[in-house]
Amino acid sequence: MSAPKLKAPRGTFDVLGEQASVRAALEASARAILESAGYERIETPAFEATELFARGVGESTDIVRKEMFTFTDEAGRSLTLRPEGTAPVCRAYVEHGMHKRRQPVKLWYLSSFFRHERAQAGRYRQFWQVGAEALGSDDPALDAESIALLVELLQEVGVTGARLRLSSLGSAETRGEYRELLKAHLRANEGSLSEDVRSRIDLNPLRAFDSDHEATKRVMEGAPRLLEHLNDDDAEHFAQVRGLLDVADIAYEVDPTLVRGLDYYARTVFELTSDALGAQSGVGGGGRYDGLVEQLGGPPTPGVGWAAGVERMMLAGELQPAAITAVELFVAFEEPGSRRIAFGILAEARSAGLRARMELGGRSLKGQLGYANALGARYVAIVEAEATVLRDMEGGGQERIATDTVIHAVLRGLRTL
Ligand code: HAM
Repeated sequence: MSAPKLKAPRGTFDVLGEQASVRAALEASARAILESAGYERIETPAFEATELFARGVGESTDIVRKEMFTFTDEAGRSLTLRPEGTAPVCRAYVEHGMHKRRQPVKLWYLSSFFRHERAQAGRYRQFWQVGAEALGSDDPALDAESIALLVELLQEVGVTGARLRLSSLGSAETRGEYRELLKAHLRANEGSLSEDVRSRIDLNPLRAFDSDHEATKRVMEGAPRLLEHLNDDDAEHFAQVRGLLDVADIAYEVDPTLVRGLDYYARTVFELTSDALGAQSGVGGGGRYDGLVEQLGGPPTPGVGWAAGVERMMLAGELQPAAITAVELFVAFEEPGSRRIAFGILAEARSAGLRARMELGGRSLKGQLGYANALGARYVAIVEAEATVLRDMEGGGQERIATDTVIHAVLRGLRTL
């Protein structure tokens, strides 16, 4: 009996061939856009102390309550596969004393994240995000620059017609006062609310704005709006961000019902959605998280950033796989005794900087020529005991030459192209 076949776990996938090539193109775009704006690459570990997310993302969020892959190490420490990248980047900022560098410190990542979600198209349990975080300045121009970079990335990868929604959550104090108003409104309408929203009136009343439940939605239409309760500083900050987006000609809609699924946001929040995606319409989102670094044990440090889902950008975008680079020399041989010589030619070709391949699959000479043709090889060297036949696959000619002159001949041939 043969062993049972194994499959990748639910909500995960293998990245193969053309998909890998499209991802490479996307990474190149993200790198070019973000590094030109002064963002440096950062990679943090795939797992962190569970406390980082409990404190950073927030105990009342769906992510922390039900979506984390958490395990215990041999010393009894609770660890979690990272569900997002902002809390880890802030942890690293504090751990490496980055507040001593020139501010703002700008960091970007392209990493995989893990959430125990119901898997469906565009929603996975392991997914990738491109993220950009800028720490150490509360200048509204940093919010606007950050948003502009996300918009540019989406344009570059061909996500057309994405909608930018924008709001401000104000400061922690404003939000505290506003939460009381909202709780009172929810309590007054408790009978119409969904079970989930009702159970979280105290814990996380703002999430009621995200509910799909019809009666809850109607209650929320009449709810007080946080945007109308901002203090003067926060209202001014929000006005500045909007004004700067206008300067950059970036279209947005102010959406006072926009709440994001993470607790660390303060002031600006934004989300980009694309109709091309169906139910999982969020391509990217982010905002300001001015209290997060301090909450993680660092000095008071403002910050703003976003993350965009790689798979969602690929679904909504039009990236082409990077062009396949043609093989310049294929080294073929018929007699097993010629393998050593062929391998020597391959090594020499690579030292000379040629894109070279050799026969590694035990094919007949005819099979090898067919394979070289399929690879688009420009030259094929057929190694024999005493000499080598060099065939020009494009020009059609061939010549029998001394084996130690093959590389020279190929280089000369390529130069005369
Ligand atoms: P988020 O909105 O939770 O924000 O995720 C950002 C993006 O990641 C989403 O817009 C979506 O494209 C993608 N994404 C999220 N969950 C999944 C999933 N299960 N499957 C596929 N794609 C997914 C954050 O993670 C924040 N850390 C963003 C941020 C950075 N805020 C400030 N700085």
